[in-house]
Amino acid sequence: MHQPLVLGIESSCDETGVGIVRGTTLLTNTVSSSMDEHVRFGGVIPEIASRAHLDAFVPTLQEALHEAGVTLEDIDAIAVTSGPGLAGALMVGVCAAKALAVATGKPLYAINHLVAHVGVGLLDGKPVAGNPDGGAPASGGAAGLASAGLGADGLGADGLGADGLGADGRLPENLGALLVSGGHTEILRIRRITDDVEMLGSTIDDAAGEAYDKVARLLGLGYPGGPAIDKLAKQGNAKAIRFPRGLTQPKYVGTVEEPGPHRYDWSFSGLKTAVARCVEQFEARGEDVPVADIAAAFQEAVVDVITSKAVLACRENGITELLLGGGVAANSRLRELTGQRCSAAGITLHVPPLSLCTDNGAMVAALGAQLVMAGIDPSGVAFAPDSSLP
Ligand code: KG4
Ligand code: ZN
Repeated sequence: MHQPLVLGIESSCDETGVGIVRGTTLLTNTVSSSMDEHVRFGGVIPEIASRAHLDAFVPTLQEALHEAGVTLEDIDAIAVTSGPGLAGALMVGVCAAKALAVATGKPLYAINHLVAHVGVGLLDGKPVAGNPDGGAPASGGAAGLASAGLGADGLGADGLGADGLGADGRLPENLGALLVSGGHTEILRIRRITDDVEMLGSTIDDAAGEAYDKVARLLGLGYPGGPAIDKLAKQGNAKAIRFPRGLTQPKYVGTVEEPGPHRYDWSFSGLKTAVARCVEQFEARGEDVPVADIAAAFQEAVVDVITSKAVLACRENGITELLLGGGVAANSRLRELTGQRCSAAGITLHVPPLSLCTDNGAMVAALGAQLVMAGIDPSGVAFAPDSSLP
């Protein structure tokens, strides 16, 4: 089958991303981030993000086309994130994509950002031009998808489906996805990535990334919190303190025969409170707060409960292949423990390289290519961005 050349545009938060794929092969992933401008505010400021997209879009597009060695005329379809995300930020990407579609006459696909986070796992494992060893930097370069995706962790998992998972729009049966981001923590069964995705479990309060960001603030580690805690945790003792694992009590989990109401669900707000109490206790005693130990113990609690419930959901629902996606999928301990537990449970895990975990255009292009290959009709140019797309 013809492998469509698809341009993907992402602008839902602080990253302006343009990615280009041919079918399931990544050609380039160019990202410009405005995070530096938000850090001092302790969170992404929508107005600043929108303006930054406006500045960054054209140069990012030009760089992506140059790196992929293609022109706009060569492109078969354009895909753009239509939501969820910041309304003003989404509008910049959607408006640019519509203009490109009208000017070039190419079909345009509206893409759900969250589905794209897991759809990126469908890119194949071949190294790409200009980056033969994979594991590319987050910006300005083609991102390789070889098993180098697991790189520094030294895991034995297979990296992205080198077998061409998702080629021609066909997915393996029994495919699941663990989506762990700043706004979502979900375990999904994917029958068709285009339109048949069932949620098996999710967080009932904070998302995992949100918990990382809130705890990082508590510990004075700044924003964004995930990478800061990940780094500091390496110097701490995760066993020094034991934080609660939410929704793991028998009344919530139940048994296989009689599942509890939250068998595959997570809760992270109690954990955040437990960390706050712990810090207060050290301060009340006039002792130094062991920030690295708290970071390590917090991370262990999050990762332990995410991976144990995800693997439970996979085993009990016959899921044998799992895609890991979302910003928190960049977490070193999550990558490590998910790899270990999936391998012990006989589940094949597909982990994107770090550069494809955080927001990027390649994931949008990858999902767009799936839609083209599955023969789905384009969205046209009349759709509006939807900041709260489910
Ligand atoms: O997927 P994403 O870019 O945003 C949403 O679409 O929601 O994820 C951003 C989240 C932030 O909460 C950030 O702290 C977290 O991902 N994150 C991490 C790491 N890198 C990013 N969390 C833990 N460890 C990391 N290394
Ligand atoms: Zn995201």
